[in-house]
Amino acid sequence: MAGQIPTQFIDELLARIDIVDVIDARVALKKAGKNLHACCPFHNEKTPSFTVSQEKQFYHCFGCGAHGTAIGFLMEYDQLSFPEAIQELADQVGMQVPTTQQASLSPAKQNLYDLMDKVGRYYVHQLHNHPQRQPFQDYLQRRGLSAATIEAFGLGMAPDGWDNVLRTFGSDQPTTKQLLDGGLLIKNDQGRTYDRFRNRIMFPIRDRRGRVIGFGGRVLDDGTPKYLNSPETPIFHKGTELYGLYQARKANRKLERILIVEGYMDVIALAEFGISNAVATLGTSTTADHLRVLLRAAPEVVFCFDGDRAGREAAWRAAENALPMLGGNQQLKFMFLPEGEDPDSLVRKQGADVFRRRIELAQNYSDFFFETLSSQLDINSMDGRARLVEIAKPYLKHVPAGVYRDMLEQRLAELSKTNLSTLNRHLEKPVQAKPKARKTAAGSAAMTPIRMAITIVLQYPILAREVDDIRLVQSLNQPGAAILAELLETLHQHPHLTTAALLERWRDKENGAHLQKLALQPLSLSADALKHELTGIIMRLHKEAKQQRIHELTSKPFSELTEAEKAEVRSYK
Ligand code: UTP
Ligand code: MN
Repeated sequence: MAGQIPTQFIDELLARIDIVDVIDARVALKKAGKNLHACCPFHNEKTPSFTVSQEKQFYHCFGCGAHGTAIGFLMEYDQLSFPEAIQELADQVGMQVPTTQQASLSPAKQNLYDLMDKVGRYYVHQLHNHPQRQPFQDYLQRRGLSAATIEAFGLGMAPDGWDNVLRTFGSDQPTTKQLLDGGLLIKNDQGRTYDRFRNRIMFPIRDRRGRVIGFGGRVLDDGTPKYLNSPETPIFHKGTELYGLYQARKANRKLERILIVEGYMDVIALAEFGISNAVATLGTSTTADHLRVLLRAAPEVVFCFDGDRAGREAAWRAAENALPMLGGNQQLKFMFLPEGEDPDSLVRKQGADVFRRRIELAQNYSDFFFETLSSQLDINSMDGRARLVEIAKPYLKHVPAGVYRDMLEQRLAELSKTNLSTLNRHLEKPVQAKPKARKTAAGSAAMTPIRMAITIVLQYPILAREVDDIRLVQSLNQPGAAILAELLETLHQHPHLTTAALLERWRDKENGAHLQKLALQPLSLSADALKHELTGIIMRLHKEAKQQRIHELTSKPFSELTEAEKAEVRSYK
């Protein structure tokens, strides 16, 4: 993927941004000697082991080993793809990402984002200026929303009428088509086009990056449908998007927990009460895609459902979808509200503190899982317990092999009053978990001179200028010589590259991960001593290269050598 954005552009981008600013905007950094540090955003810790080097434009956590460039940081922390991270950084410094097929958006998509944004702002404007805005304003006030919350969620109003948006934005054929593509217009069987959202409170739906991708619209009275949502469009996919995730991430420097609720108004009411970590699915059940997004966004995900039957069923569907994702470092929990209440009504009645306490009391995944499975059974009878094993079997099959699965099986053995070995005869063989990544050579292998030279050049790119004859290094028949030569070559052509810029050039190459490891090797010598170390190594390598060449030449009979080779042999004498 990296290959599609020109290397030169990435070099320049990395030269213009500063990793310190990029990280500091998300994780407050403190000065610590030459570097900066903070408590690591990628694992839980009390004392800071996350360090950022301004010089190398690189971060590294000594606790969990996380490391990378500004691009890598955004990919991890903001969960962006490589092109998205590039785009984000480019936006910050006002650079235009060169258009290549995959790396940037198609113009049609970009226009659609722009159009959605404009329409979203139009709805907001109507809420504050339209002559008939009063009932909308009153409605929001009745629901207890402050001006700040209305603004934070970008709420607006679609005025009554069939063609407000059509008339305001659809001045030409292409834009009208775009309005249709974006789901803002509907075309009926007679070919007539009209506004989808009319006379409704408008809730813009944003993606993780804050771009408006769709809308929900609520009636003011008890008309139907209560909520009207954007259809699937090229930029809006209900099955992967979560309402409120953008705002939750914005409101919390680090999300320790995400609460997943059912409705738009639940997210917003909770935020109004200072519980700013709620998100909602968009009128669908929680899909596996949702779960993947959520589990990457926070270490704990709490499902919050109505206590009624429908709520319990929705919770069970979510639990089923989660089975293949169990056993990581993340926790899934379930909480159920009293019948007839939703988070919005409950937080209003009982206040934020009571609501928070309810969250703390949420049920563990395993408790919910076994409680639900055994709820229809009499596990005091042998028949009931046998049945429990039978119905649990197909579910457990989907849990990845590992400690968590073992514990679920253990629990099933306890509940069914059998022992694990009996149980295991009935359970299907676990799917083998993926083997842990093998420890790569860099971590354990000895520092050969070439590896040392690579490490020095990578960490102090400026020292590359101390080496002037790259060809000899190139000709060496030793592991790593080719990489060292390539590094030196690159730095001779682009002397100002930082460690980060070098690593980005190797991102998708075979040795990229290896170089990242070397970039992390602690080097205890001073820059000056390292310069001597490097020139010493290069001198030795030159000598070895010569010997290798002599060996090559002298292993052939002298008479078979060309004149030039003969001259070369003489010169080494
Ligand atoms: P609810 O009816 O529980 O929504 O539906 P709510 O947020 O509590 O609504 P208020 O409090 O009456 O304003 C939950 C979610 O289901 C979807 C919406 O996403 C809603 O937020 N839904 C509901 C629809 O898509 N269409 C509907 O007609 C109703
Ligand atoms: Mn409600």
